[in-house]
Amino acid sequence: MVSPSAANRAHWDADAARYHADHAAYLDGFHWSPEMLAEKDVRLLGDVSRARVLEIGCGSAPCAAWLAADGVGLVAGVDISRGMLARAPRVDRLALAQADVLALPFRNAAFDVAFSAFGALPFVRDIEAALAEIRRVLVPGGRFVFSVNHPMRWVFPDDPQAFTACIPYFEREYEERAVDGTLTYAEYHRTFGDYVRALRATGFELHDVIEPEWPTELTETWGQWSPERGRIFPGTAIFVCAADPAAAPN
Ligand SMILES: C[S@@+](CC[C@H](N)C(=O)[O-])C[C@H]1O[C@@H](n2cnc3c(N)ncnc32)[C@H](O)[C@@H]1O
Repeated sequence: MVSPSAANRAHWDADAARYHADHAAYLDGFHWSPEMLAEKDVRLLGDVSRARVLEIGCGSAPCAAWLAADGVGLVAGVDISRGMLARAPRVDRLALAQADVLALPFRNAAFDVAFSAFGALPFVRDIEAALAEIRRVLVPGGRFVFSVNHPMRWVFPDDPQAFTACIPYFEREYEERAVDGTLTYAEYHRTFGDYVRALRATGFELHDVIEPEWPTELTETWGQWSPERGRIFPGTAIFVCAADPAAAPN
């Protein structure tokens, strides 16, 4: 039986070249979402000049590499795909490891800040297991910021010109299988309530949810993100959280 992690590792290994060819502008710097929300403009991570920072599902680490160049204390990136990691630049203050978010190779409280830009979290079936693992490696009070598909995007087809809602908001799983039934890709939907409950259950405080608006000058279409849709409803949700000091990690 192929696990979601194994299926997605193979998927991202095989898709790494296309992903980088199609999204060169997005991957040039630290962007939180296809709306091109840039960390240099919003500073959702706060002052990390002395912080130990962990990026989850870093891919080729454009975000972590940008932080390293910007003067972070230290930044580590993990990703399950060797094919994605192999495209990362080698820069000072950046360390990379191949790892599953479900089993992070770090001691408890090793990081002051953790973040993820569309990495890992949409691809694990058990979101609480992933969040508990991130909470474990964060210091009490440590900031955790992550961007994911906006939950309401799920109801529309993966087509930027489609505006008819047709997929149930309460359907949580999307899986692709080969003809012999082998799992080849897995992505999991969460409602807004699912995220709030999972964060609370794993010892996080939720401080904010940012829904970036589509910039009027942005004409690029990316999968289901497009100017037409962006004018009408959000494509991304960014959850700004902190490890609750009163809640001990599991
Ligand atoms: C959409 S890409 C985002 C990559 C990067 N954050 C970026 O902005 O380009 C999703 C990444 O999540 C990684 N990923 C998927 N499942 C994972 C898991 N269980 N643990 C760690 N990384 C995972 C994939 O290998 C892929 O690099």
